[in-house]
Amino acid sequence: MFNCIVGEELTFKNLVNGQWITSSSNKFIDIYSPIGNCLVGKVPAMTKEEVDFAIKSADEAQKLWKNVPVNERAEILYKAADLLIEKVDEMSDIMMREIGKDKKSSESEILRSADYIKFTADTAKNLSGESIPGDSFPGFKKNKISLVTREALGVVLAISPFNYPINLAASKIAPALIAGNSVVLKPATQGSLCGLYLAKVFEQAGVPAGVLNTITGRGSEIGDYIVTHPEIDFINFTGSTEVGSRISKITSMVPLLMELGGKDAAIVLKDANLDLAASNIVAGAYSYSGQRCTAVKRILVVDEVADELVKKVKEKVEKLKVGNPVDGAEVVPLIDNKAADFVWELIDDAREKGAHLLVGGKREENLIYPTLFDHVTTDMRLAWEEPFGPVLPVIRVKDKDEAIDIANKSEYGLQSSVFTENINEAFYVAERLEVGTVQVNNKTERGPDHFPFLGVKASGVGTQGIKYSIEAMSRPKATVINIGK
Ligand code: NAP
Ligand code: G3P
Repeated sequence: MFNCIVGEELTFKNLVNGQWITSSSNKFIDIYSPIGNCLVGKVPAMTKEEVDFAIKSADEAQKLWKNVPVNERAEILYKAADLLIEKVDEMSDIMMREIGKDKKSSESEILRSADYIKFTADTAKNLSGESIPGDSFPGFKKNKISLVTREALGVVLAISPFNYPINLAASKIAPALIAGNSVVLKPATQGSLCGLYLAKVFEQAGVPAGVLNTITGRGSEIGDYIVTHPEIDFINFTGSTEVGSRISKITSMVPLLMELGGKDAAIVLKDANLDLAASNIVAGAYSYSGQRCTAVKRILVVDEVADELVKKVKEKVEKLKVGNPVDGAEVVPLIDNKAADFVWELIDDAREKGAHLLVGGKREENLIYPTLFDHVTTDMRLAWEEPFGPVLPVIRVKDKDEAIDIANKSEYGLQSSVFTENINEAFYVAERLEVGTVQVNNKTERGPDHFPFLGVKASGVGTQGIKYSIEAMSRPKATVINIGK
């Protein structure tokens, strides 16, 4: 259906202990573009022995890296950020071909990652420890002081998803490295060309041999082996709730930081600015075809303003540009046919159960046209499941309490938006929502990246965000001074 995006076929290697290697098995995984199903490149399928070596060399390198002064680690990160900026054109072309994200969004993901890396270096240089006097606790005297510093954890396993292959790898690597850890990156297979390119940037910036290693191979084949590897000290995972919960079941005593799926609601109250709500909802739901954890995935609107809001949303959805990311389309083919099949099942289910199809409901291979359903009810799968595609359900509610109730019944708890001009109503709703972040009068979104970002319930474990990620990937070390003993 789509022509291939022009570009050379890429064969990438893995970075292990400072060397770029293919696999001794000589097996490669072909990466096909979601646009026209053309071959973009190939990456090695690593063997278990090679995984062992990558993790072992990370473990050894970390022993030296943790003693490198923070200001020197920071210089390497600044260099990496500059290189990302320098290479934005080439990298964004690869991203567009590999995951079908439009050029402008690909560029902005890369530039945002450069900012993330710089901000991480700045933040780490400004972190300080604390000293705690003993005599504030009953029964203790002034002669006891706890000096609290922070220490690295060891080898961090970073597993990233397909949809932000640079940002969600960089936002694991940079805080882990600055905290003195070494990193083993396992990028999503679809996204591994971007992930390996990013590793090259860090290597060129001066990250020493072994401090950043990469592993490629299908998660279904090597995932369990890597996450249960005895030399992994921390797992930082972004991906589906299904894989995340599997990792948490099969690992033992390894701390986890997980960003998982979501079903973010946009709650629209009667006194909302409906134009503002509609434009935020449409941008939030359909950009990159809804393949964002933080995409708006349901509208909960009170009956009084439902007709008017739906009309405005519908008008905007009809104007979305659909097609090839090369032409700047907002709604592009999904990552693969399997993803499109799943979205199609949800569309079928909603149709069969009587939801009103207002826009879309059309498919060509892995392209799902932007789809909007009104009068979705809670017996439909679309009310609860995460499509990761361009389909948005409108659920009409009688009041704010019913909206909160339905929002909280979700197994997920990433973010929610509330649209209202009344600050008291905003706080009423925000206080009651079981999510990591509530956006007042804005679409759900992660950025800016120094804000805390977390999911509750099935949406995650632990907190990301630049300072929070550094803290998560380090631990306090207390040295207690006992004066006069
Ligand atoms: P996914 O299928 O769960 O894959 C994520 C990563 O896990 C990939 O690197 C994958 O490798 C790897 N993996 C697969 N099986 C594994 C196993 N048994 N052990 C260890 N790793 C394994 O997710 P995705 O399709 O890439 O991304 C979409 C999902 O991610 C959505 O649910 C979305 O909501 C979520 N997400 C969440 C956030 C957030 O911040 N909360 C951000 C982005 C995405 P392979 O590619 O080789 O299978
Ligand atoms: O889905 C991944 C997340 O990093 C998206 O970021 O700011 O576009 O919501 P944002």
